[in-house]
Amino acid sequence: MPKLTAQMVRPACRTVLLRARHRRIRGSGFLIHRGAEIVVEPGATFWVGASTQILRDATITVQGTLRIGSKVFANRGLYLSARHSVEIGDRVQIGEYVSIHDENHAFDNPDLPILHQGFVTEPVVIEEDAWVGSHSVVLPGVRIGEGAVVGAGAVVTRDIPRGAVAVGVPARVVSYRPGFGPLPPEEAGVEVEAAHVATANTMRLSL
Ligand SMILES: CC(C)(COP(=O)(O)OP(=O)(O)OC[C@H]1O[C@@H](n2cnc3c(N)ncnc32)[C@H](O)[C@@H]1OP(=O)(O)O)[C@@H](O)C(=O)NCCC(=O)NCCS
Repeated sequence: MPKLTAQMVRPACRTVLLRARHRRIRGSGFLIHRGAEIVVEPGATFWVGASTQILRDATITVQGTLRIGSKVFANRGLYLSARHSVEIGDRVQIGEYVSIHDENHAFDNPDLPILHQGFVTEPVVIEEDAWVGSHSVVLPGVRIGEGAVVGAGAVVTRDIPRGAVAVGVPARVVSYRPGFGPLPPEEAGVEVEAAHVATANTMRLSL
């Protein structure tokens, strides 16, 4: 059996205490480290998958639904507000001091202070295996596709396609990871290439 260290035991104890305090946190086998401020309002759902780690000083407010998948890693200082719905897929990697919001202050009425205009919410989805670089801001209504990469310091205002690398303010796609493309693989010529390789191999074999 692997030796238990204080570094492993302390976050586990803290997670147990947090869960005792916030009965609405669901899931098991995850760790939330020191300094977390978590508010889960009555009727809200906060679900966390196994082997997920949320490092120090996270601030998480859930008034709607927050689902964080398994094996997610959120570095220090995550700020996450789920008034309506935020979903984070399995194995998503989040750099330090990332903000994720599914709400904007409403501000259409010129006769009322913004303070009194309430909020407009739109769900946020970060699909599995995406990586959100440090100090990024993810805004309401955005879907970050499977395996996408968001560069450090980006402000994500629009959807990012799967496998895309997006950087800057606002975040723009600058490239795609190898094996991903702007179209699904079958439409992006991957099958054609595979067939071509198969033919080439067959030809070589038949020589
Ligand atoms: C995006 C990133 C992954 C690099 O991806 P890449 O595909 O290797 O991109 P490149 O380095 O080839 O850069 C492509 C272009 O985007 C620009 N760029 C790269 N990262 C950028 C960023 N974070 N913000 C703005 N522009 C950026 C480059 O300057 C380059 O522009 P150019 O073509 O005009 O010269 C990396 O720059 C980054 O931001 N990493 C995040 C690190 C981090 O947060 N770590 C925390 C660990 S959890």
